[in-house]
Amino acid sequence: MLKGSGSAIRPVLSRPVPSCYSRLHTSRPSENYSSRSSNRRALFWLTLATATAGVGYIGGAKFPPPAIPFIFSPYATNTKDVSDEQEFEAARVVEKGLYELPSVQTLVNHSYETNSARSVRESFGIQSSANLEMKAEDADYLMIRPFTHIPKERLIRQFTAGSLRGSDMFATAPLVFSKTKRGAEHRGGREGDTIAFVHVGKNMCGYEGVVHGGLIATMFDEVLARAAFYALPSMVGVTAKLEINYRKPTYADRYFMLESHVTDSEGRKAFVAGDLREPGSHTALATADAVFVEPKFAKYLTWVGGLNVRKLMEE
Ligand SMILES: *[C@@H]1O[C@H](CO)[C@@H](O)[C@H](O)[C@H]1NC(C)=O
Repeated sequence: MLKGSGSAIRPVLSRPVPSCYSRLHTSRPSENYSSRSSNRRALFWLTLATATAGVGYIGGAKFPPPAIPFIFSPYATNTKDVSDEQEFEAARVVEKGLYELPSVQTLVNHSYETNSARSVRESFGIQSSANLEMKAEDADYLMIRPFTHIPKERLIRQFTAGSLRGSDMFATAPLVFSKTKRGAEHRGGREGDTIAFVHVGKNMCGYEGVVHGGLIATMFDEVLARAAFYALPSMVGVTAKLEINYRKPTYADRYFMLESHVTDSEGRKAFVAGDLREPGSHTALATADAVFVEPKFAKYLTWVGGLNVRKLMEE
């Protein structure tokens, strides 16, 4: 078998392209014999290598070791079409679960439900056993659903509230508790310190089942920005630095709680810190530090442009 296939391939091996191998041996007296036997040896190894590679390829393709998809194909995609009804139902289930979290209920009892929070909750027909009748002036927190007032045609270009919104991604808006002045007096910290509850769906992974680290950075960016804005003169800022420490795997298809607070501020600069945990847990899955800077032109947006950032953030 080896011999047969050998004679078929030999002409190829001894063709015009002189291999380094045969050039190395041109000065040898027994040139003919030596090169022929080494050709045969080369052929043997070539055939063996081809056969091994073939068996390996077919075997590997049929029974891939678990590590291979882990290393080379870590992305889950959301290509499946979902009907509007299915999408709504999935979102409703997530929304209902959100209001059932004990840490949410505890906070709701000390919070004022803004229009955005009320309209999202009521759009899903969710009742809460917690007290939703607190007056704004008695509340330690404002309950807010960010981006709710943005028109659909603009929302579509928004990353977290547009592109990433949907079943198995961010099914509903995060539920944000923003500390009021009164809350800061009662509980310490500063006005604008933020606690956000969010559900991360199963199609947001890096490695299978584990939330993508870049998504965690994105969530931190938004939650830290919110706290930082309260420490900036015009309440407008851009991310200048964002540093994340990933401490534990963050598993997808769960609720998370992100907290952020201002650590220092200095003119147009705000320093903020935050952490990511499962609701009710004391273990930080990730922590973050960031610096937000107010652009110089920001004051004109508010002076001349009449932009009321506080109103936008607290509706
Ligand atoms: C919140 O308030 C409601 C009604 O006032 C009460 O029944 C419930 O036990 C409270 N929940 C928590 C977690 O404090």
